Amino acid sequence: MVGAHSILRLAWRTALLAALFSAAGHAEDRSAPARPGGLEAKLQYCKTCHGLQGQGYMGYFPMPRLAGQQPDYIEAQLRAFIERRRTNPIMFNVAHVLSPSMLTALATHFRHLDPKPFGGAPRRSISTGKQIYEDGLPEANVPACAACHGVEGKGQNEIPRLAGQLYDYTVGQLTGWKKERGQGSAVDTSAIMAPTAHNLTRAQIEAVAAYVSYLQ
Ligand code: HEC
Ligand code: HEC
Repeated sequence: MVGAHSILRLAWRTALLAALFSAAGHAEDRSAPARPGGLEAKLQYCKTCHGLQGQGYMGYFPMPRLAGQQPDYIEAQLRAFIERRRTNPIMFNVAHVLSPSMLTALATHFRHLDPKPFGGAPRRSISTGKQIYEDGLPEANVPACAACHGVEGKGQNEIPRLAGQLYDYTVGQLTGWKKERGQGSAVDTSAIMAPTAHNLTRAQIEAVAAYVSYLQ
């Protein structure tokens, strides 16, 4: 659960970052002011949390990498936040005001960004993670991640890219899957991942999250 206190801290940090980034933006580029409510203004807002290159950001919460993410996946998740099938108060507030055409435009933008992975994950279990990623754990009913997310972790359509994703974010998603995703009565794409998330132990989650976090 996100407490009021942590939301306040986040709001404060966001305001601070927004002030810093807009000051930096003015210094670089005086020619193209972002029109309020337009795509550029929205993107600047996204990037105060998700990083200037969409590389993610480690704040009070981990802000996931969006760079190189599949547009279909981004759009599907924005809709899931809006419809509260995926419960996250921050992203609900961000997304529920966006028009359908804005959702599509935002989702497409991140596709071609390609910053280096954020890094910082523990390296001790990367080889275990690689093995889980490529071969799965047949004895625990865990399929190879690569079968769906691709050998390079780039994803496809509504299957997300995992390459370069923040370690803490991935660990959080896989350990909390049932509490945040696939909420409500309608079955959605989150159901495809639910058994896999459930069958991984904490140590296995940490290993595979570390492995994908370093994929370029
Ligand atoms: C105040 C900070 C903040 C802002 C601003 C923000 N986000 Fe987020 N976003 C988050 C956090 C935190 C999460 C992780 C939510 C979770 O843990 O489920 C997230 C998650 C997401 C996800 C899911 C990513 C994934 O891998 O599943 C998408 C897509 C997303 N944001 C898109 C956007 C877009 C587009 C914008 C701008 C319109 C935006 N965000 C603005 C904080 C923010
Ligand atoms: C049968 C196909 C399939 C397999 C196998 C699979 N996944 Fe997924 N995965 C998905 C789909 C589809 C989603 C999007 C779920 C949604 O819409 O919420 C997803 C989402 C995820 C996410 C959330 C990403 C984000 O940005 O929030 C993570 C993390 C993840 N998978 C990790 C793994 C790992 C690790 C493995 C292997 C142990 C694995 N997946 C195996 C299909 C698969």
